[in-house]
Amino acid sequence: MNLTIRPEEQRDREKIEDLTREAFWNLYRPGCDEHYLAHTMRDHPDYLDDLAHVAVLDDVIVGSIRYMKSQVRNERDETIDTATFGPLCVDPGVQRQGIGTRLIEHTKRLLIRKGTPAIIILGDPHNYCKHGFKNGKDFHITSSDGRFPLGLLVLELKQGVFADHRWRFQESTAYDLDPEKVEAYDRRFPPKTKEYRTSQELFGMMIRAYLD
Ligand SMILES: CC(C)(COP(=O)(O)OP(=O)(O)OC[C@H]1O[C@@H](n2cnc3c(N)ncnc32)[C@H](O)[C@@H]1OP(=O)(O)O)[C@@H](O)C(=O)NCCC(=O)NCCS
Repeated sequence: MNLTIRPEEQRDREKIEDLTREAFWNLYRPGCDEHYLAHTMRDHPDYLDDLAHVAVLDDVIVGSIRYMKSQVRNERDETIDTATFGPLCVDPGVQRQGIGTRLIEHTKRLLIRKGTPAIIILGDPHNYCKHGFKNGKDFHITSSDGRFPLGLLVLELKQGVFADHRWRFQESTAYDLDPEKVEAYDRRFPPKTKEYRTSQELFGMMIRAYLD
């Protein structure tokens, strides 16, 4: 497989939005909003431009990873800057061949080099535990409402950085999307049928699940 991981370029943007729409369509809800997020996030002040990478297979973009700045705050009001990826996606035709892993591993190395102490995401544990992510509870990191969501996942890049404190995670406001704007933006793309899939049930359970 002739696969390369390279930094995203401006000319890739349209292709990335198409790819993102294909990968997420009907997966977590009927339709999806991740292609709109891919469109808006790059103009947000929290966007980490240097981390945006694509996977290229035989000259075709088949994967994309984008990051935003995020933060944790402890009981003394001290903060640590962290990084959050998403959307992360791979063309459905070439999933389960290690491409997502390559995107995560490559950008993880860049973050270590930059001195970023952790990646924190809200995602499906099934996809990320194999990459070393643990639940926020293992590091006493809650969501902003003080709870431990099943999908709040932390990959420590600097060992012990969260030790001896309790933390609250704050993700970028870039992830707060207006459903009406999502709908309007989606009309720019070729029509696609919104449908129910059982994966939506699993996702619905996951986002309502918390650790004690
Ligand atoms: C999640 C996603 C990015 C993963 O990308 P991917 O390229 O399929 O990921 P990988 O191939 O590295 O790993 C996926 C699986 O394939 C397996 N795999 C990797 N290389 C393989 C190979 N050569 N042969 C067989 N299996 C392989 C991995 O072990 C893993 O298995 P598991 O799911 O049972 O743990 C991709 O599935 C996707 O775009 N999904 C839709 C969008 C999405 O959900 N994004 C994440 C939001 S939380």
